[in-house]
Amino acid sequence: MSEQTRWYQNAVFYEMYIRAFCDSSGDGNGDFRGAISKLDHVKSLGVDCIWILPMYPSPLKDDGYDVADYYDIHPDYGSLDDFKAFLDAAHQRGLRVVIDLVMNHTSDQHPWFQAARKDRNSPYRDYYVWSDTGTEYADTRIIFLDVEESNWTYDPEAGQYFWHRFYSSQPDLNYDNPAVHEEMLKAVRFWMDMGIDGFRADAVPYLYEREGTNCENLPETHGFLKKVRRLMDEQYPDAVVIAEANQWPEDLLPYFGDGDEFHVCFHFPIMPRLYQALKAGDKTPIIEILARTPEIPAGAQWMTFLRNHDELTLEMVAPEVREWMWQEYAPGPRQKQNLGIRRRLTPLLDNDKRKYRLMNGMFLSLPGTPIVYYGDEIGMGDNVWLPDRHGCRTPMHWTSAKNGGFSTADKTYFPAHTDAVYGYQHVNVAAQEGDADSYLSLTRRLLSARRAQPALQNGELAWVDTGSKALLAYTRTAGQEQVLVLINLSDQPQALNVSLSEEMIDLLSDGDQSFAAASLEPYAIHWLKSAG
Ligand code: GLC
Repeated sequence: MSEQTRWYQNAVFYEMYIRAFCDSSGDGNGDFRGAISKLDHVKSLGVDCIWILPMYPSPLKDDGYDVADYYDIHPDYGSLDDFKAFLDAAHQRGLRVVIDLVMNHTSDQHPWFQAARKDRNSPYRDYYVWSDTGTEYADTRIIFLDVEESNWTYDPEAGQYFWHRFYSSQPDLNYDNPAVHEEMLKAVRFWMDMGIDGFRADAVPYLYEREGTNCENLPETHGFLKKVRRLMDEQYPDAVVIAEANQWPEDLLPYFGDGDEFHVCFHFPIMPRLYQALKAGDKTPIIEILARTPEIPAGAQWMTFLRNHDELTLEMVAPEVREWMWQEYAPGPRQKQNLGIRRRLTPLLDNDKRKYRLMNGMFLSLPGTPIVYYGDEIGMGDNVWLPDRHGCRTPMHWTSAKNGGFSTADKTYFPAHTDAVYGYQHVNVAAQEGDADSYLSLTRRLLSARRAQPALQNGELAWVDTGSKALLAYTRTAGQEQVLVLINLSDQPQALNVSLSEEMIDLLSDGDQSFAAASLEPYAIHWLKSAG
């Protein structure tokens, strides 16, 4: 690893939802004080940085991605002092913290929008994007397809249509107005000065609108994002800014700029292909998408994930693949959502530990900074009957006590799972702590094996020919260190046609680590290293 390696390039992130994590006040909502009491759990996983979902005051029509005040904490989650205490407690444990920065839009309850809609002459009117006809930018796709019919909504109070890429309760900010730039940079400084370690910048492709385009990835948008980076480089050089841009790899490249825009971009397209490869027993989609993934500037990094707080998005696959993925992974009622699937990791993998080990072992050994989504470390289930994406945002299960030990309240914001397979009575942190075969123990083993291997964190990737589409093999190499990864994507044993010149040990094996197998068991994964 070069000395230039930045901390986020070889870190592991943990995505935490404060409302779901732990309720210290007994009101049925998780809060920062509760989350502090669970930081030892997070630390014990072997992660380096926590990303918390939006924690700002908000009417929660989009779970906090509808910000009503950029400078405070949602009262359900605590106060600014509680947030600071959380930050200190995380830092004391050697955990960094990044927060969500929602730049594209505000809540319609934000005072800016309230002032804007009331008065055409208000300076805030021009903070948003208005139209008399609602016909402009007709080439722009609708993202929340299940709910929204247009990106324009008529506001009777304003007497005009306003532009929104997400829910109609989330009016888009107008980046043609320099005052909006200043507002956003001010919010960046406010949280950075409090001591956070960076941002996950939400929905960044959509900042500007231009007629005749699809209003995504516009040069003006990159112009503003570079301005954010300049501020970071000048004042907060150790921080990270991560782009949430759900785009094809070639469209993502400009978000890194020449090393002067984002430090990190989510790699959206690889995610569905990991599931596709597993279900089809065919490595081709993974190899193809990584072949299509460009080199990125020094100091930059991809971010990878298996699941997050949104639906498992299928926006970045061909329509026929999307149909196939829906058939295979979303056959049940309500499992489809927008262009994706509203299910959690473990149910998607049939609650099969071999598949969990394989998928985690694969994404933890491919290039990128991985994120673990809260609850997946214990194999939590989902609840498709809850509205929107809430079925994957339910309370964390800590113990077998009431509400999974999440809260003492009689009613929580959404219920913890109680079903026969995924109920908190069986699936919880306490029950899995002492069990060497539990999802929790497995997750810790995988993360600690990765942590011990610099090659897996930042090494060069090279494919190894196996003669079989079901057998994926690759090396990661950093200096003298090399790890060979072997994965059987199929439900049948696979003969191993890869010559292993030296004596190898399997870093993922619990007992005797020497590896001499002539074939791979169904869904087996091995991280091999020379025994020498
Ligand atoms: C991002 C978030 C999603 C949110 C949307 C609008 O895609 O991940 O949860 O609904 O932006 O802010």
